[in-house]
Amino acid sequence: MEKKYARTLVTTALPYANGPVHIGHLAGVYVPADIYTRYLRLKGEDVIMVGGSDEHGVPITIKAQKEGVTPQDIVDRYHEIIKKSMEGLGISFDVYSRTTSAMHRQTASEFFRTLYEKGEFVEKTSQQLYDEEADQFLADRYVTGTCPHCGFDHAYGDQCESCGTSLNATDLINPKSAITGNTPVLKETKHWYMPLDKWEPRLREWILEGHKEWKPNVYGQCKSWLDEHLQPRAVTRDLNWGIPVPIDGVEGKVLYVWFDAPIGYISNTKELLPDTWERYWKSPDSRIIHFIGKDNIVFHCLIFPAMLMAEGSYQLPENVPANEFLNLEGEKISTSRNWAIWLNEYLEEFPGKQDVLRYVLTANAPETKDNDFTWADFQARNNNELVAILGNFVNRATVLTHKYFGGKVPQCGELADYDREVVAEMGKVKETLGDNIEHFHFREALKDAMNLARLGNKYLADTEPWKLAKTDMARVETILNVALQIAANLAIAFEPFLPFSAEKLRKMLCMDKADWSRLGATDLLKAGAEIEKPELLFEKIEDDVIEAQRARLERIKQENIVANFKPKAVAAPVPFEDFQKLDIRVGRVVKCEKVKKADKLLCLTIDDGLKGRTIVSGIAKWYRPEELEGKEVCFVANFAPRTFKGIESQGMILSAEDADGRLVVIGPHGEVKPGVRVG
Ligand code: 2FM
Ligand code: ZN
Repeated sequence: MEKKYARTLVTTALPYANGPVHIGHLAGVYVPADIYTRYLRLKGEDVIMVGGSDEHGVPITIKAQKEGVTPQDIVDRYHEIIKKSMEGLGISFDVYSRTTSAMHRQTASEFFRTLYEKGEFVEKTSQQLYDEEADQFLADRYVTGTCPHCGFDHAYGDQCESCGTSLNATDLINPKSAITGNTPVLKETKHWYMPLDKWEPRLREWILEGHKEWKPNVYGQCKSWLDEHLQPRAVTRDLNWGIPVPIDGVEGKVLYVWFDAPIGYISNTKELLPDTWERYWKSPDSRIIHFIGKDNIVFHCLIFPAMLMAEGSYQLPENVPANEFLNLEGEKISTSRNWAIWLNEYLEEFPGKQDVLRYVLTANAPETKDNDFTWADFQARNNNELVAILGNFVNRATVLTHKYFGGKVPQCGELADYDREVVAEMGKVKETLGDNIEHFHFREALKDAMNLARLGNKYLADTEPWKLAKTDMARVETILNVALQIAANLAIAFEPFLPFSAEKLRKMLCMDKADWSRLGATDLLKAGAEIEKPELLFEKIEDDVIEAQRARLERIKQENIVANFKPKAVAAPVPFEDFQKLDIRVGRVVKCEKVKKADKLLCLTIDDGLKGRTIVSGIAKWYRPEELEGKEVCFVANFAPRTFKGIESQGMILSAEDADGRLVVIGPHGEVKPGVRVG
């Protein structure tokens, strides 16, 4: 028997306020959390969803330094953008706050002091990396170097983004300061550590024995950390951006961002419910669910729970349904490379299409493995599912009602056997859909809702009321009554997933509100009640819209290639005479054809101003033969001839790689006669 809870606290990972949120954040955290919360609200349960911006940490100070502004300027800017865009997408936070709020500073400081006074920290002096020129310790992302595990040469001081291992800055091989580029020195400093080793037995029992029902990806990651054994972790840093360490006499040190951020969930709840917040955190009949991405598992399943255990008065989370990652067009989403679809931009470019994004991100959510977002899939799901199935059914049912019954819900006569089957099918949706949401299977739950729309479409296609209208109006009344009841059920079933469209549908059908307990009912709309004029719920997305988005990504790819291009070091000097030994000339391509049985080779006949010559070149992958005919090219004229596939090649065509890694032939920019020497 699953336990019943009196109330639920849904927390959502606090996004760093150093950039807008993107589709990866949405698919991983905010859309599933919102579906879950809206569903519980619809059921009339006591539930709150809390969130806020994570406004501390080194990436924020680095961004501020790069832009020549203060960290506060950065977080003020992005907090507003994030908050507004989340609202725009209908992510229905009960509170969305920030970790620079006074309430949070006070809550996190008190939490630290409680642990400090209980003697839960270990104080340790150790050697840490220090940038002498910047006169600063180099915590976390202030230092980069080679990963000791995989050899990736751009690992950060807290994590290697290539192999995912969490690191200490002093683990890095060949460390470099991100501020000055200097090699840091080691300098002594004191910090406070959470002795995670002390909590390991309790964590093992709580998760490995007590939470076998957690998602396999979450359970597996916890098990592997626990099997490796937990080490003490520093919870303070030598930085000047963050919450000051609240110990008398300690200066220039702040709480580690991962110590204060999860306490943000508590601060946010306090801001929302100053008098009753403790009920959600401390009563055994409350359940806490953390929605996060997979990179946050260790913090939410091991470190934060250890902090809560050490504090002693809080409940541990009941579940942590972390998602895997969403990629974009086959590549990892990256804020620094701008490889993302940003929510604020989406909302501007696709006004009124919030539900399309919500739908696609849920249908394709990375629940059990990494998944890919593609614009082609976005278009297909909109056109073939939202428009062709859900929108089409609702439109047919409402248009026919206006056509035959002046927009009034017709009477339901006696049901035929087939009607009964359809109604019975509709009656099953509530349980399967609810069960899937409660077990965090949001993709399946969405399919359940969509299957109801499919059922409606099939029902109309099978019964063909437009044909019966000539002969049996009583039957048409019953059919359209059933169809309208299905449409009304859709307005309830889709409310957690597509809140904007569900509301539009409810208004169209003149329904008061969505009530989960009525899902499956056949009397949601009363005979004789009026419905509004039909309006399309979704519109087809045309190819040019998708092409424009693809072109944007293509531009970003090019910009990244250019930005990442580093010319090779110049070769050792040679005397001018050596250069003169090479006879480079301009020639015109007279004829060009593929070389048989050689994919890479083209055979070019060159007008060299003399007798003409043949050159075989490995550029077939980049050029169609006819593209080169008539072009001026540069070639080395005095190489000893070589034979390729039985053809003697008398020289070499000069080429260079373009931004995309394609070979481009080199030629003159003005008119130059074939045979002229280059020098
Ligand atoms: O990974 C991140 O984006 C973090 N800012 C998440 C913090 S979650 C919580 F602990 F606040
Ligand atoms: Zn690595």
